This record gives sequence, C-alpha cells and structure tokens, in this order.
Amino acid sequence: MKVLVVGSGGREHALCCSIKSSKKVEKLYCAPGNAGISGVAECVPIKPMDFEAMASFALKEKIDLTVIGMDDPLVGGIVDVFEEKGLRVFGPRKNAAILEGSKAFSKELMKKYGIPTADYFVAKSPDEAREYLKASKYPIVLKADGLALGKGVLICNDSAEADAAVKELMEDKKFGSSGDEIVIEEFLEGPEVSVLSFVDGDTVKIMASAMDHKRAGDNDTGLNTGGMGNISPSPYYTKEVDDFCQKNIYQKTVDAMKAEGRPFKGVIFFGLMITKDGPKVLEYNCRFGDPEAQVVLPRMETDIIDVMEACIDGRLSDIDLSFTKRASVCVVLASRGYPLSYEKGFKIKGLDDPLFEKSDYFVFHAGTAKNENNEIVTSGGRVLGVTALGDDLKDARKKAYEAIEHIDFDNRYFRHDIGHAIDEV
Ligand code: AMP
Ligand code: GLY
Repeated sequence: MKVLVVGSGGREHALCCSIKSSKKVEKLYCAPGNAGISGVAECVPIKPMDFEAMASFALKEKIDLTVIGMDDPLVGGIVDVFEEKGLRVFGPRKNAAILEGSKAFSKELMKKYGIPTADYFVAKSPDEAREYLKASKYPIVLKADGLALGKGVLICNDSAEADAAVKELMEDKKFGSSGDEIVIEEFLEGPEVSVLSFVDGDTVKIMASAMDHKRAGDNDTGLNTGGMGNISPSPYYTKEVDDFCQKNIYQKTVDAMKAEGRPFKGVIFFGLMITKDGPKVLEYNCRFGDPEAQVVLPRMETDIIDVMEACIDGRLSDIDLSFTKRASVCVVLASRGYPLSYEKGFKIKGLDDPLFEKSDYFVFHAGTAKNENNEIVTSGGRVLGVTALGDDLKDARKKAYEAIEHIDFDNRYFRHDIGHAIDEV
C-alpha cells in the first residue's frame, strides 16, 4: 500500500512510525512533514489546507490511504474533498469534525443526549455574555466557539477578568471568527485524563488513557501550551472510571453523532475531568492528541492500518485492539520562551546516540528542520518529544529523563515533573 499522512508535528511523526511498521505499507509520504519524519517517510511540500493540491498529489501517486493528523484540515472538510474524488481517507467528514470545530455544537450535543459535562451558556453577542456573567459564580470559564490553537479557553477569577475575556474573544476577535460565539462554562475541578478512541460510525474502541501536562512550567505553573509531556496510562483512569465512561460517555457520543446525521469515523479524543461527582467531558477533539499520540501509539500492538481500514469500512467490531501493559512517558524538549516568542535555528546534538536505536526509545520530531548544511536544527516551540517505554510508569519516567540528557541544543527547555501524578495516586 501507498500511504500519505497529512501534518508536520510530533503526532504525525508518531503516526508515520506506526504506519511504517505495518507489513502492508510499501511506501509512505508525509505532507509537509519535518526533518525527523523525513527519516521514515518521503516529505512533500504541500500545505495541509490546500485540499485540491493534496488530493491531486494523492490521485497522481495512486495513494491507497490518506491519514489526516491535524484538526484544521479536518474541520475545514479535507475528508469530503478526498471522498468526492474517490480517494480513501481516514478521519471524520466536515459535518462530524464539528465535534471539535464548534464548542457550542459539542455542548448542545452533550446536553441533548445526557452526556456528563459542565453546565454552560452559549453567548452570541458581548451583551448577552455580560448579562449572563452578572449572575455567575466565579471562577468561570470562557471558551471561543471555534478552533484557537488550544488557546481559546480563559479561566476568569472575577467579573473584571470575565469582562476582559469577553472583550478579547468577542470584541477584539483575538481568534477571529472563532470568537463570534462563546461558551461560558461552570468551572470544574479534578485531574484531567485524555482518552483516545477509534470510531467507525457505530462502534467505538478506546485505545489507552493518557495524561497531558499543559502548563509551560513545573508544578503546573505558567502559560498553557500544546502539551509539555504525557504519560500513558493515566494513574487516574481506574476500572471504575472506565466503566462509567463506557456506559455514559463513549458509546453515547458516537450514537448521538449518528442520530444527528453526522456519523463519526476516525479518532475521537475525549478530554475528561474526573470531578468529585464523576467523570465529565471537558472537550472533544476529532483527531489524535499531540503529545498523546507520542505515548499511546508506541504502546499499540495491533496493526494500525488494519484498524484504520476497519474504521473506514465500518468493521471495527471485528478488530481486536490491543495495547502493551508496559507504560510510556514522553518529555517534550521545547525552545526557551515557548509558548510566547523563542529563537530558532539551533543545531540539535545527540540524535544519533546509540540509545535511540533501542526499541524502548523514540525521538519524535515536532519542530525541526534541516539547514543548508543538512544539519537538523530547531524550528518550532516544541522541538522534540522523547518517549520511553518501561515496565511501569516509574520505570518509563526514569528512562525518558535519562534519555533527554543525550540530546542538547541551545535554549533547550523542558519540564522536570512530567508524570508527577504517578507519585500522587
Ligand atoms: P479545552 O480546550 O476545552 O480542553 O480547555 C483547555 C484546558 O482548560 C483544559 O485542559 C482544562 O485544563 C481547562 N478547562 C477547560 N474547561 C474547563 C472547566 N469547565 N473547568 C476547569 N478547567 C477547564
Ligand atoms: N494535547 C492536547 C491536544 O492534542 O489537543
């Protein structure tokens, strides 16, 4: 088979590594990819939002399967464009990707079908928002309806902060039309768990649980980022939590989408908070998480191509989805200054260390490029995700932190406490 992956981050590098390991795959392309991905796939310089160019390439190269890693093209309808041209593609259509593309849609879906989530109100104008906020309890959470690079969620401690947030999202349009409507949501407390699942329109099978570390600084301080590290499984994802979510969240969500005439095929990422009243959905994503993919995929034992094809064909119930009991920990090496401004272009040393030839270690490239001398240099805020597999979470964490010491670049920055939950549960 010839396979094309769309995207350029650590998630797509992890996807490319899993896909490449399938016996069915003869040729792998990634568009646009990055310096690390070029080690496992042929990178092609096509922009992910240029659907026509992407589909033309797939037709010309007779690609058998295209896998969309990123949210923007999915929400924009890349799958519909591919399907219209008779191309096979893994991911939800536009009318299903709205599960991530509109928070107002996902909240209304959860309310209508009784899926546990925070209480909320959708405001369609700044006046409506301010009127509702007058009678609210604080802290309260304001969210841009649409995609906002993971930055459209503002937690407000008092009415002055909420007023400023309304201005930022709805009047100053910091995230453009994503802030035309906002969701105002009850503030929830508890540990967060990420659960990835494969979905074929009817059946949902969950992969492994994971736990993100979204803040830039140690002890969960500093700004929100795309994720500074991840562990899988999450120590908070107990049998009891799983039973509850299987009964009240996963299948209910898939059934609700089908009932709405929006059957979902692809990956649903359930962002959960384990509150004292039980698990609640904080958000849905319509694709693999990043860095979640970098800890979950190295644990997957089933051939990923078999699973993706089963999702497309509606045969997921026949698949025996299996994950190793071993644990994984990913530590992100970032550029100092991320998620604000940072310098790029620094040479990365240690990538050829013999340690990384061992099967328990993975160096996923997120923001890397090759310079004019063909050397690999930093080119993004999140530069690398270094993942280690271990016998348990403690072992994996020890190995991941040892492994990052083999890699160096100027302005290297990382969190020292990825996996702190392991000692807390
Ligand atoms: P989201 O993009 O909706 O996942 O939100 C980003 C982050 O904001 C989440 O991972 C949480 O840490 C936080 N968050 C979102 N919604 C709430 C809520 N209702 N209560 C408390 N924190 C929240
Ligand atoms: N790590 C969270 C996400 O991918 O949205």
